[in-house]
Order: sequence, then structure tokens, then C-alpha cells
Amino acid sequence: MVVPGQQNTEEKVFYPPEDLRVDAHVPDLNSYRALYKKSIEEPEEFWRDVAQEFYWKEPPSGRMLQYNFDVTKDKVQIKFMEGAKTNMCYNVLDRNVLDRNLGTKVAFHWEGNSPDHHLTITYSQLLKQVCRCANALKQMGVQKGDRVAIYLPMIPELVYSMLACARIGAVHSIVFAGFSSESLAERIMDAQCTVLVTADGVYRGEKLIKLKQISDEALDHCREKGSLTVQKCLVVKHHAFRIHGNDTCNKLQTRWNAECDVWWDEAVDSESDECDPEWMDAEDPLFILYTSGSTGKPKGVLHTIAGYLLYTSLTFKYVFDHHHDDIYWCTADIGWITGHSYITYGPLANGATSVLFEGIPIHPHVGRFWEIIEKYSVSKFYTAPTAIRLLMKYGREPLNKYDLSSLRVLGTVGEPINPEAWLWYHDAVGQGRCPVVDTFWQTETGGHVLTPLPGATPLKPGSATLPFFGVLPTILNEHGEELEGEAEGYLVFQRPWPGIMRGVYGNQERFENTYFRKFPGFYVTGDGCRRDKDGYYWITGRIDDMLNVSGHLLSTAEVEAALSEHSAVAEAAVVSRPHSVKGECLYCFVTLKDCREFNHTLMDELKRKVREKIGPIATPDFIQNAPGLPKTRSGKIMRRVLRQIARNEKDLGDLSTLADPNIVEVLLSQRCEAAA
Ligand code: WT7
Repeated sequence: MVVPGQQNTEEKVFYPPEDLRVDAHVPDLNSYRALYKKSIEEPEEFWRDVAQEFYWKEPPSGRMLQYNFDVTKDKVQIKFMEGAKTNMCYNVLDRNVLDRNLGTKVAFHWEGNSPDHHLTITYSQLLKQVCRCANALKQMGVQKGDRVAIYLPMIPELVYSMLACARIGAVHSIVFAGFSSESLAERIMDAQCTVLVTADGVYRGEKLIKLKQISDEALDHCREKGSLTVQKCLVVKHHAFRIHGNDTCNKLQTRWNAECDVWWDEAVDSESDECDPEWMDAEDPLFILYTSGSTGKPKGVLHTIAGYLLYTSLTFKYVFDHHHDDIYWCTADIGWITGHSYITYGPLANGATSVLFEGIPIHPHVGRFWEIIEKYSVSKFYTAPTAIRLLMKYGREPLNKYDLSSLRVLGTVGEPINPEAWLWYHDAVGQGRCPVVDTFWQTETGGHVLTPLPGATPLKPGSATLPFFGVLPTILNEHGEELEGEAEGYLVFQRPWPGIMRGVYGNQERFENTYFRKFPGFYVTGDGCRRDKDGYYWITGRIDDMLNVSGHLLSTAEVEAALSEHSAVAEAAVVSRPHSVKGECLYCFVTLKDCREFNHTLMDELKRKVREKIGPIATPDFIQNAPGLPKTRSGKIMRRVLRQIARNEKDLGDLSTLADPNIVEVLLSQRCEAAA
């Protein structure tokens, strides 16, 4: 994606504020450079020092880090602290309660969708809840290595259940509670989960989402496909209890299968609040999290225990310059990697106090974010460009009603941030006092890889600035040649850092093909990137068939497959088009079968199809009737041309390879001006 205005603002630099530098973990650029140098030149020592903070039942049997990135030589693999024995849950909870005396410290201020609902959870309360849940999972037959699907909204039970899995050595697979039943089913089947944790229902803004009903439909899909692995479904009474305050209000339940379904309060609350942690190998799996793949089928990104613990913990500490008295708030959903790394694991590993927010930015009013910042005196705030652009639309007035003087550091993640949004965030939200850390990373990287450090790095709006410790970025040209100095090309990484993914669940070949085949010896991010004269990195957006809608990756193939399932559709091609709030949105070209008519009913059906297959996030903004698609003589769709049509670009470049150049004129004359 082209970031508008990027070139012009490049010269504007924002230096770290003095009051922040006074007690910053990394107080200037020289300290950053020294630590970075050590992390690259002496990685074993660097990470051994970091590991000292944590609890190890046994030390690693060999080196800290072993890996192969060269797919032409051997299998691609990454091993960090192999042989060491530890437990993730012990490190983020017991260690804080027992060794660091943080039992009475607040781990989470839970704030509901409605301002009337809130709850405070200390570290020792969290530990007890997690143990109860862990015991209940064991009762349900969950053993070390088993996969547990979690389909929950942003409620405390989501944190309890993921940490309960970590405690007993089960592998969690969290599915964002906005995905459809088919998406949930696909993910459950791929990981062969034996337990599903869900809730009766939840309000997101004004909208009621019937999670148990969607879960039932998902299990029906699994059954139809002949691969129902789920034996138990644990259901939180969130809608009935927490929202309506009584058990009798149970109108949401469409079905109750007594052999499979278990209420959370019946199964969990009566369990003991103690549960011995399972001692795991450093390289045992911690979780699977699905992310869109360019072939259409989501990939189960696999992360393991020790490396992920060290990396999320260290990035959290440095990137947000975390201190004991901070109140931190990340507005992401735990259903995405941002929530895994920077709501659950990173903050808890540091003994931080966080806000856990169930709702959305503009409900019940457009000042909801600012109200929460004031209510809890939030000092570190982490959100997405799409949320910033949405809130920008309402101007500064909603901000003026609240006291935001507690804020010290602001962060963004998910997509390139345009300098206009960056400056508004910095000036209107941060009142010009707070550095904005633009953190570039991916589900696959586990944690921040290109990012400023707020006390050290001079900022340029729109740039993710410099690599984090242990990260060695490189820019390659099309031929795989390394580019030095000022350059633009493919962003790749030369070696692993502890938090990088270990594989695609159950599919080593796909892991190697997706990330390591194109340029042997490098991890390929799929993003384009420019390095400026100061060595700063500027992400220019995806360079594969992926698009970024509101900070979430979708593959065009995934949406095309959903559209093609409609009986009227002969062929579909999907491209991205810039969108003022979402960043990018979907523009679909649809060729109908003979004698099918293109009308509003059909458009609604197509949209519904995509929502059912993937989820509301993937709802197309534009659907154009395409009597034909621009193809090469060998039959390959020329997406470049479709993208240009969708964006109304006049110069379509070289069309000589098209089998039928006339189709371009037809498509241009009928392009959609307004959203469908
Ligand atoms: C893709 C990864 C990492 C959590 C959220 C998304 C884009 C992410 C930035 C940023 C420019 C960014 C990239 C990346 N992206 N952060 N700060 N600047 N682009 O996780 O769904 O795995 O998506 O998001 O294109 O590859 P994800």
C-alpha cells in the first residue's frame, strides 16, 4: 500500500521527551546501539542474560539457539534453549505471586462493553482462577499436547483458559470470536481439537453475537465432514450471568447436548484452586494461531514456549518502556496475535497491570476510549491505525472531555500508519508529550521486530524505525541480491530471534514454501520495505496476494473461494482498494454463469456468503459485474490491471500480454464508484 505523504514528512523528526528518558530502560540511541550490537554479535550471552529472570526447572542441554534457514541445505528449523524445562503459566503467574511478591497487584482491570460492567483481578486471583480452569480441563480429559479451541470474547475467562492450557501443557488455538462457524470449524478440524471453550453470547457494541449457536453450527460442520474431534464444549455463562445478572435468562440457547456441553460455572468453580504445572520442554508447542494464507486455506502458525516467553517479555518491557506503576492498555482482541503477545503473555511476564476491554471504540459513545484512559489513568496505550482513523473523524471534541494527562507512550500496530493519522495520534491524543511507537511485526514473528524504543529512538511519522534486539533485517531485490544503504525491496530476516514461529501446524512443506523458498537463507515477510539514508525502515505494504483490512490480513484467494461457492458465480477475482478507515477494503469482480442476472439480491447473497465462510471482517465493499476478466494468453488473471481499475487509475500500463484487451474498457466503463 502506498502511504500518502510519506516522502514529504520524512524530514520531520520527533525526539524522545526528556522526562521519559530520565528513567527509561534504554535512554538514548547509543545505549540502543550498544545493546543491539551485543544481541547480534553475542546472541547466546544476550539471551542467557534475559533468561536469568525466569524460572527454569532444568537448564538447556546445549546451545541457546540452533537453526537452519537455508531450505536448499536441510529442513528449516529453529530451536531455542532446547532441553530446558519450564512452564509458561508458572513464569507469568506463580513467579510473580511467589518470587516477586506481586500477589495483590492488579493484573487486569476488566472493562465490559457496557460501562456498567467491570471487574478487577489481582495476580493471586488470576492464578487461582487459572488453576481451577486447568483442573476442569483435566477432568474433561485434556492431556499434555492436546489442542483446545477457544472461541471467546474479551472476557476474563479467555485469559483463564489460555493460561490453563499453558499450565497443563495443552496447546491453545484461539479463534477470534468474530469468525464465522465455517471458519471456526475449519480451524478446529485442522488442529484436531478435543475441547472447545466458548460462551453463550456477547454484545459487541449494540450487536448480540450468539457464540454458543455459532459453536454448535461449527461442530455440525465438523460432523458433516466426518471429523468431529471435539468431545467437550465448555460454555461460559457470560450473557446470562454477567450481562443479565441471572441464570434464568437463558434465551440464547438453541441447543444443549448434555453429553458434550458443560457450563463453566458448574465445571470450573467447584475445582481446587491449586494445580501443579506440567514441566515442559522449551521447544514444546505453546499455541497455534491461524492466519490467512495466500492459497486461501489459513495456516496454523505454531509458537513454542521458551523463546516466545523471552521475546514477548523483553519487547514489552523495552518497547513500552514498562515500569512497575504503569497502567497499560492494548485495545486489540486476544483472538489476534497482538492480544496473545501484548495483552496476555508479555505484560503478565513483566508483572504489569493492564486494562482488558470487551467493547468497541464508539459504544456507547465516541469518547469511550478516552473515558477508559481517564478512568484507569492509563499510561501506555497501544492501538491500531484503523481505530485512530475512525476516531479522527469525530475531531478533538470528544477528547477534550477527558483528562488524558496520565498518558506517556502511545503505540500502533497492524498496518502502515499514514503520517496524518500518526500526527493526530501524537498531537491530539498524546498532547504532543508522548512518543508514538510504530511497531511492525506479524503473527509469525511472535513479537515486535522493527520498532522504536520510546526513550531512545528519534521518530519519523510513518516509519517503524529500527530493528529490535536480535533482529537482522535485510532488503532484497527481485533476484535475491542484498541491497545496501538507501534501498527499496523485499523485507526479509537473516536469522531467527527467539519469538519467531516454529512451523505451520502439521505442514512443514507449507512452512518452508511460504517463508523460506523464495530467497533461500532468509525468512520472507511478504512485505515491501524502504530503508532511508538514516537506516530507518518504512514498510510499504504487502507484496503478495494478501490485503490488510483494518489491520487484519486476508487473502484474496480466500474471498474468491467463498464467492465462487455461490451457484450463480462462474469466476471471481478480488483485489484491494484503499479505504479511509479500514486502510484497505475488498473490491470483487464477479463473472456470472450464463443466464444469471446481476442484481441487488444477488449482491446481498454474495456478501452473506463471504460473511458465512469467513466472517464480517471480510465483507466486500464493492462487487462489480464482470462479463470477463483480463487474462494472459495462458489464462492467468492479471490482478495488477484489476487493482488499477478498482482504484480508477487511468494509466493501465502495458496490456500487450492480455488475451482480450477489450475487456479492460468494458470493466472500466462499469466500475463501481460507491460502495455496494
Ligand atoms: C502484517 C501482519 C502484528 C499484529 C497485527 C497484524 C502489517 C503490521 C505493521 C506496521 C506496517 C504493519 C504487515 C504485516 N503490519 N504492523 N507497524 N507497519 N505494516 O498481524 O495479521 O499477522 O499481519 O500486518 O503487512 O506483514 P498479522
